[in-house]
Amino acid sequence: MLHNRRILLGITGSIAAYKSALLARELQRRGAHVRVVMTRAATEFITPLTLATLTGHRVYSDFTENKDQGLWTNHVDLGLWADVFLIAPATAQTLSSMIAGAGDNFLLAVHLSSRCPVVVAPAMDLDMYQHPATQENLAMLKSREVSVIEPESGPLASGLDGKGRMAEPEAIADWLESWFAERAPLHGHHVLVTAGPTHEPIDAVRFIGNRSSGKMGYALAEAFATAGAAVHLITGPTQLTAPANVHEIVEVQTAQEMFNETMARFEKIDIAVAAAAVADARPVDAADHKLHKDQLPGAISLEATPDILAAMGAQKTPTQFIVGFALETDDGLRSAQSKLERKKADLIILNTTADAGAGFGTDTNKITILEKSGKTHNFELKSKAEVAKDIVETVLNTLQS
Ligand SMILES: Cc1cc2nc3c(=O)[nH]c(=O)nc-3n(C[C@H](O)[C@H](O)[C@H](O)COP(=O)(O)O)c2cc1C
Repeated sequence: MLHNRRILLGITGSIAAYKSALLARELQRRGAHVRVVMTRAATEFITPLTLATLTGHRVYSDFTENKDQGLWTNHVDLGLWADVFLIAPATAQTLSSMIAGAGDNFLLAVHLSSRCPVVVAPAMDLDMYQHPATQENLAMLKSREVSVIEPESGPLASGLDGKGRMAEPEAIADWLESWFAERAPLHGHHVLVTAGPTHEPIDAVRFIGNRSSGKMGYALAEAFATAGAAVHLITGPTQLTAPANVHEIVEVQTAQEMFNETMARFEKIDIAVAAAAVADARPVDAADHKLHKDQLPGAISLEATPDILAAMGAQKTPTQFIVGFALETDDGLRSAQSKLERKKADLIILNTTADAGAGFGTDTNKITILEKSGKTHNFELKSKAEVAKDIVETVLNTLQS
């Protein structure tokens, strides 16, 4: 769930600040983009150089950069950049300043101007933590929808033993993962995506295939996973590395295998996206050994393969949602519309090889989305990752409406 998340890490002046270096590393290891904001007091405990080196980005702690030249750092931009502002460790001082709405250091100004959710991981001595002022501040922050990652109990830097230690970096990263998961729009939904070509054997080494690279299906699997879904990726043969965070990947070769694996799961699927370029026909007789040159038939008889999209359309319940793809060599709007109706799909994604940069093998695609209602949405040529996000968004909007 942290893959590609933008996390603004705020560090304040607690002895636990040394753990923030490990936290930054752990968040990055899980795929997050991390930027760091520090208070002046925090820089006494851990250097900005350490955090800048670990994250590969400059660290922000002042409003101005070079006073002689009048350069200043835009605290508003940082707040807008982030998906979440995580202040870890959060001192008693910073918690109370947040309550007061203070903006007298850079971190507090970012807090006031950020539109993203704010999460704090308090760290302080036992008595500071238990003090009614701190407890009231935390209660008030919660009432303002700031999330609190509870500190842990154990030996404290003061020599006392009790509650106040900042949660360990791994525990904070786990907490954030669940936090993002719960907020993701498709949390708890199962999405099945088919991807890539299928290979229909002629003999043990030869096959009939097509030019699909699988890139669009893999991008979709990743985009649905980012939206919180448990993604089941049923993929034909591709050269691609597995997308991040998918629930399961099932590798198949033929249309029949893809059909079997898809239909075996279909009952528990909420959204199915048929992005694979499934062969429409296969050789009637496939030899189970390699045919010698002189044994090759002059003609290959073909038979139809099972139609996965149509089978899903026929079985689907009113709560299931099906998305099909139509690849055409002309503008194809009419045949895409007919496919939508014949296959009982909810959306059809039309892409045409007539558009430069669209279709098989490319890293980009240009699509038109057709809805059952007859509405169409035209999109510009974009990377397949961006196209996948557009499709997820359209699915979400259609489901909501
Ligand atoms: C060695 C040392 C350790 C400290 N540890 C903490 C701490 O864990 N929690 C805390 O709330 N304050 C702690 N303080 C006090 C804060 O550094 C002080 O309140 C400071 O003003 C916080 O500023 P800031 O919130 O702007 O970073 C510590 C101070 C020192 C000298």
